[in-house]
Amino acid sequence: MHRHEAHEHLAPDEAPPDLSDLPEDWQEVVLRRLEMTKTESIRREDEDRKTLDEVFDRQTLLVLYKFISNGFLETLDYPVSTGKEANVFHATDPQGKPLAVKIFRTNTATFRSFMTYIAGDPRFGHVRPNRRDIVYVWAQKEYKNLQRYFEAGVRVPNPIAWRQNVLLMEFIGSEGTPAPRLRDAPYDDAQKLYEQLVAQYRLGSEQGGLVHGDFSEFNILHPSGAGPVVIDVAQAVLVHHPMARELLARDAKNLAAYFRRQGLKGVTAEETLKAISPPERPQRPIDREPVDEDEDEDDFEDE
Ligand SMILES: Nc1ncnc2c1ncn2[C@@H]1O[C@H](COP(=O)(O)OP(=O)(O)OP(=O)(O)O)[C@@H](O)[C@H]1O
Ligand SMILES: [Mg+2]
Repeated sequence: MHRHEAHEHLAPDEAPPDLSDLPEDWQEVVLRRLEMTKTESIRREDEDRKTLDEVFDRQTLLVLYKFISNGFLETLDYPVSTGKEANVFHATDPQGKPLAVKIFRTNTATFRSFMTYIAGDPRFGHVRPNRRDIVYVWAQKEYKNLQRYFEAGVRVPNPIAWRQNVLLMEFIGSEGTPAPRLRDAPYDDAQKLYEQLVAQYRLGSEQGGLVHGDFSEFNILHPSGAGPVVIDVAQAVLVHHPMARELLARDAKNLAAYFRRQGLKGVTAEETLKAISPPERPQRPIDREPVDEDEDEDDFEDE
């Protein structure tokens, strides 16, 4: 974060928010971070610190604060992943249940690529192209896509809540450790896994109406003793999106290539594409009432 940018977020004489219903250790953390966003005298000691400063800007702290006061969140524990677009933390809810908190960065994200996926989606077409708002829509898109996948029965983390650039979801893993990515997970039956993933994908496209768009060994978690879990769905698009076919074909190609590398020599992109594609949309009889094409337009949730 550039320092002059931080200044714009908080006027020097702005009163701190009332944090009295926050646990004491949290009050301290929030106040310290808020303080940091408005003072010039911050020494940035190392990269980790810089990352944390970037992620926990004032606005994000207030969102976390809101989640705590609304009873969604109790503790924010430690980072499990520091990515280019988002940081993921282990957290717990007031019942002690583990959560994953995905915080999208509002300052360093790759906005141009976001727009490609947002434009063309009737659910989000009316977004103002402002830096922060785009990230909020991106996070909301991940939330809504998770909901769609979850309702369709696809194994994804159960989405718990979304607000601005912060997404709360079920933690996939055990004893505080996230499940390994497919890339790092040992397994012995590649054929079975291929079939499971094809079935999950197909469920998502057929029942959920979504094309993942970044389906790879990096975005699939593989808990030991359980089936694969699909993550990182912000870029997933509706099957009628102008880019859907292209993304579907790319996902099929990557999936097939991955499993060929795992020894399934006979797997082809063509057969994989066929297996993961949603059924062709039935032609609407002309004498029937028109179906609302923009079925999703209205469920844009206002803050
Ligand atoms: N629900 C979850 N439960 C446990 N761990 C998770 C969960 N969601 C994400 N993670 C962890 O965070 C990592 C990154 O998540 P994700 O792929 O959604 O973010 P990303 O935006 O792609 O980040 P990157 O820029 O690193 O690719 C995952 O590989 C996984 O280790
Ligand atoms: Mg990812």
